[in-house]
Amino acid sequence: MKHFLDIHKTDPADLRAMIDGAKATKNARLGMPKATLDTDQPLKDRMVALIFEKPSTRTRVSFDVGVRQMGGQTMILSGQDMQLGHGESIADTARVLSRYVDMIMIRTFDESVLLELSEYASVPVINGLTDRTHPCQIMADILTFEEHRGPISGKKVVWSGDGNNVCASFLHAAGQFGFDLVFTGPEQLDPEDEFIALARSKGVSVEIERDAEKAVEGADLIVTDTWVSMHDGQSNRERRHNLLRPYQVNEHLMSCAKPDALFMHCLPAHRDEEASSAVMDGPHSVIFDEAENRLHAQKAVMKWCIEN
Ligand code: CP
Ligand code: NVA
Repeated sequence: MKHFLDIHKTDPADLRAMIDGAKATKNARLGMPKATLDTDQPLKDRMVALIFEKPSTRTRVSFDVGVRQMGGQTMILSGQDMQLGHGESIADTARVLSRYVDMIMIRTFDESVLLELSEYASVPVINGLTDRTHPCQIMADILTFEEHRGPISGKKVVWSGDGNNVCASFLHAAGQFGFDLVFTGPEQLDPEDEFIALARSKGVSVEIERDAEKAVEGADLIVTDTWVSMHDGQSNRERRHNLLRPYQVNEHLMSCAKPDALFMHCLPAHRDEEASSAVMDGPHSVIFDEAENRLHAQKAVMKWCIEN
């Protein structure tokens, strides 16, 4: 049985097949109404549970629509409304849900919840974001980059800002898809050493450059994310803003990258904080393609899970 827990835990050939499959299925649906069923129905007669312990717009809607396009049905569950949020163990929840549904997607806080769920579930489990990683987002981002610029392998990606969960999955992807990554942000918010070491061990370059303008020289892609993630809480908001302000992606910073560099943000964004509206709505930005591609990339992930 295959779980989709993280990009570094998934074979590079499988990841490549998912991206290529997502492109093909997306193209085959061009211009069709959103509820049109795919020709291929890998989720026919399947039930998928979507569990949310944190808010979500994109993940919730894209998984729900994706399952339906593939012929399946969904059940959206809020962690707080389940016994899970009131003391029932994760292991028991996993065993119970596996008797009702064919696949589980979970968005949670601590990564240990995802890992325990996958250990005890007898159906595939998909990571829909934890405090530590967000692999489905980066699958969509790879698809988006390649639609606009061709193969991502050998390209230079710059992460500007907080070394958070989305940044971690970009580091995982660097190793698996073979691109170089430069992190630019304050030392206090560096990505975990483990993520950097793992990418380097796969032969790609990972650098830390405190000067944002230097960091983006020659960049093919600049990525940022909110300065305060859902798991950070609001208490450190001011401190984080002060640390991160020099790493805002604005038109000046974009102009220091390659002329055809792309700009990405997983959304939701705080406009004119981590990125200026001029960049978000400007010619380099592909943020809404990323959002759309959550749907197509995750369908490929679910197909891989269910067919293995
Ligand atoms: N990018 C992303 O995961 O968005 P949501 O929080 O809206 O799901
Ligand atoms: N880093 C953000 C991503 C939201 C999709 C968070 O975890 O809140």
